[in-house]
Amino acid sequence: MQDYHEFLQEILIDEHTLQKRIAELGAKISQDYAGQDLLLICILRGGVLFLTDLMRRITIDHTIDFMAVSSYGVGARESTGHVRINFDLKTDIYNRNVILVEDIIDSGYTLKTVLEILETRHPKTLRVCTLLDKTERRKVQIPVHYCGFAIPDKFVFGYGLDIDEHYRQLPFIAAVDPARYQPSE
Ligand code: IMP
Ligand code: MG
Repeated sequence: MQDYHEFLQEILIDEHTLQKRIAELGAKISQDYAGQDLLLICILRGGVLFLTDLMRRITIDHTIDFMAVSSYGVGARESTGHVRINFDLKTDIYNRNVILVEDIIDSGYTLKTVLEILETRHPKTLRVCTLLDKTERRKVQIPVHYCGFAIPDKFVFGYGLDIDEHYRQLPFIAAVDPARYQPSE
């Protein structure tokens, strides 16, 4: 495995800035759902670090659940909108206040399909909270209620986001220099 310093273009969002913004999002969500039921749904695996930090900044009681989806199609860096559920929720979301917690919205295809699937289960409310938003890359409209940071069109890694499943553990968001990244076999 390549050391990430070899292909690091720049650190886009450092740990302190990330945590400060997550605290703001947690405070806003706590305010918006005060006195109400709240369920956070995390889409595995990229959103896991964000979910666990966000939870600790939400001061009202809430529950969590997970689902895993994959977009299948050619090209590991592009999603297609053909989304398959690999691992479904345990929770019945009927009549619940749901926030879908995502790491990043790129084309929006993945999230659009997930939102459509969840809507068929008739939650009371359904909102999206994404840490990162690559707005320039959007192909389909998604209602984003909570957003950490709008970022430029660069492939990023760290803080849950992977390059070929690696580097998720880094506590900051960094951009890849594609010319210097070597995929391992
Ligand atoms: P979308 O369907 O195009 O919006 O793709 C969303 C998914 O693609 C995210 O949940 C990530 O798993 C992945 N993704 C998109 N951009 C990046 C990136 O810059 N780094 C790592 N993963 C990304
Ligand atoms: Mg993801």
